[in-house]
Amino acid sequence: MNQNPAIGHNSVPKMTARNVNVFYGQKQAIKDVSIDVTSEHVTAFIGPSGCGKSTFLRCLNRMNDTVDGARVEGRIELDAQDIYAPAMDVVQLRARVGMVFQKPNPFPKSIYENVAYGPRIHGLARAKADMDNIVESALRRAGLWDEVKDRLGESGTAMSGGQQQRLCIARAIAVDPEVILMDEPCSALDPIATARIEELIDELRGRYAIVIVTHNMQQAARVSQKTAFFHLGTLVEYDDTSAIFTNPKATRTKDYITGRYG
Ligand SMILES: Nc1ncnc2c1ncn2[C@@H]1O[C@H](COP(=O)(O)OP(=O)(O)OP(=O)(O)O)[C@@H](O)[C@H]1O
Ligand SMILES: [Mg+2]
Repeated sequence: MNQNPAIGHNSVPKMTARNVNVFYGQKQAIKDVSIDVTSEHVTAFIGPSGCGKSTFLRCLNRMNDTVDGARVEGRIELDAQDIYAPAMDVVQLRARVGMVFQKPNPFPKSIYENVAYGPRIHGLARAKADMDNIVESALRRAGLWDEVKDRLGESGTAMSGGQQQRLCIARAIAVDPEVILMDEPCSALDPIATARIEELIDELRGRYAIVIVTHNMQQAARVSQKTAFFHLGTLVEYDDTSAIFTNPKATRTKDYITGRYG
């Protein structure tokens, strides 16, 4: 039997990480992290500022490749394929494992073009009508269609923050990803826009493997079914969200969720 509760916990993992270490120059930011991520559940990453949540999240679609001085060790697989293998096409990988950032970052292009951009570079639409369908469907799934259908030509950057974040989610799902990574997607949003994104995450659950980093404990409890608690670069505890919040095994987890530090 596997002794690590972060492994073999879920049915068929979509992504697996084994013994992952991440260094920035000499400094180690992630220490021997192993975890499985499944498509059935939303997984929340929680932990105090600087504990490595964003660093580890970025390993899952090789975004750390773009960070100067960052080095990743260990093995990370998507559908049992090593994503750090030389043969892995990183552009393709990032389409399969999409990312939504803390600060909404729409392109300075029209709403339509923001969503059409990915499908176009991946050759997903042959005719204009196909692209129109992809754009509409992504905007519908992101809960934005009714608000923008009459102004698709307007700039994505001219929308409200909450709308921009939903546009970024639409942009991520337009290429039909398998995994969506969200790094504090609501931290720049008001409570109403936050609630809308949380509803959306719930609607997308099961269709994509979703990993969300959040500092908001209530949010983690509301949107996730699995929670991973990180501290000082290590994965301290990974369990059902209900267990983490009602009956954590590690003292450090308990201290964090009860607000003793962080
Ligand atoms: N580009 C970088 N270069 C050097 N060190 C970095 C870099 N990015 C992060 N670090 C360091 O790695 C550690 C983990 O940072 P990371 O951003 O992953 O933490 P986090 O848990 O996401 O924090 P927060 O909750 O504040 O977003 C920190 O000590 C941080 O200073
Ligand atoms: Mg972070």
